[in-house]
Amino acid sequence: MKKITKAVFPVAGMGSRFLPATKASPKEMMPVVDKPLIQYAVEEAVAAGITDMVFITGRNKRAIEDHFDKAYELEAELALSGKDELLRVVREVIPAHINCIYIRQTEPLGLGHAVLCAQPVVQDEPFAVILADDLIDGDTAIMKQMVEVFQQYQCSILGVQDVSREQTRQYGIVSSTNLEPNVELVNGIVEKPMPEAAPSTLAVVGRYILTPRIFHHLEKVQAGAGGEIQLTDGIAALMREEKLLAYRFDGIRYDCGSKLGYLQAQVAFGLMHAELCEEFSAYLNTLDKRCDGCRDK
Ligand code: UTP
Repeated sequence: MKKITKAVFPVAGMGSRFLPATKASPKEMMPVVDKPLIQYAVEEAVAAGITDMVFITGRNKRAIEDHFDKAYELEAELALSGKDELLRVVREVIPAHINCIYIRQTEPLGLGHAVLCAQPVVQDEPFAVILADDLIDGDTAIMKQMVEVFQQYQCSILGVQDVSREQTRQYGIVSSTNLEPNVELVNGIVEKPMPEAAPSTLAVVGRYILTPRIFHHLEKVQAGAGGEIQLTDGIAALMREEKLLAYRFDGIRYDCGSKLGYLQAQVAFGLMHAELCEEFSAYLNTLDKRCDGCRDK
C-alpha cells in the first residue's frame, strides 16, 4: 500500500488577473481575512497527513519562503511585549514536523511544467497537487477525503465539481462512468471545451493525486495554447495507461484566482471567523443591495 507524504504547490504563475496586487508578491500570499491562501492550502495538506510540502516558486518567491520560515525577530518582539496570543499565531503557521522544500520554475511555462519541476523531490511516489487559489471549505479537509479514496483505489484521482455548461470553457472537463457515490472512472478529459463541445459539466478543480508516471508524460507534452505545458494533456496521456478516477469532493469551492471568487471567499470566511462573524454579519445587513455603479470608472 502506497502512502501520500508529499504535496506539490505550484505558486509560480503570473497572477495577471490580480495585477497590480500581484506585481511584487505572489497571488498565493493574498489573504482571506487574516491568512494567506497558501497557508489554507498547507493546512489542508497537513490535515491529510502529508509531511513534505514542495513549493514550485517563481519570481517574487521570497514572501512564501519567509511566511513558512521561523521569524526570530518578530517572535522576540511579540514575546517582549507580552503579546502571547499573537506569538502563538505566528508560531503555529506551520507545525514543527513539516518539511518545506522550494524549487524554482525559472519560466512560467504552465501548470504541467510546474508539476514536472517537482520530479527531483517526488521521485517514484504518488503525490498530491494543491492549487492554493482554489480555496475549498469542507467539514473534512478536501485532500484528506481524496487520500481516503486513494487508500482504497491506489491510482490517480482528480478533484471535480459540477459547473454550469456555460463555464466549461474555463476548466478541464472529464467524461466518466460512475463507480460509487462521488467516485467516477474517467475515460476522457479535455481542456477548456466550448459549452456545445463539452463531454459533460464535470470540471477538474485544483486538487489532484497523481502517480509518478505523470512525469514521464509531462516530459513529452508539447506546449499548447499560450505556449504553456498543460497538466491536462499529461493527465490525458496518463489515463490511456493507468486507471484514473474523479472524486466529487464534499465542500464549497471559492475560485480565488478570480476577483469575484476571492470576494465571495472573504465574505464567507469573514462570516465564519470566531472574532468577526457577529459584527461582520451586522455590517453586511446594513448594506444597500443596489450596485453603487462602477466607482473606478
Ligand atoms: P493560473 O492558470 O491561475 O495562472 O494557474 P496564474 O498565472 O496563476 O493566474 P492568471 O491567470 O495570470 O491570473 C494555476 C496555478 O498554477 C500555477 C499558478 O501559480 C496557480 O497556482 N502556475 C501556473 C505555476 O506555478 N506555473 C506556471 O507556469 C503556471
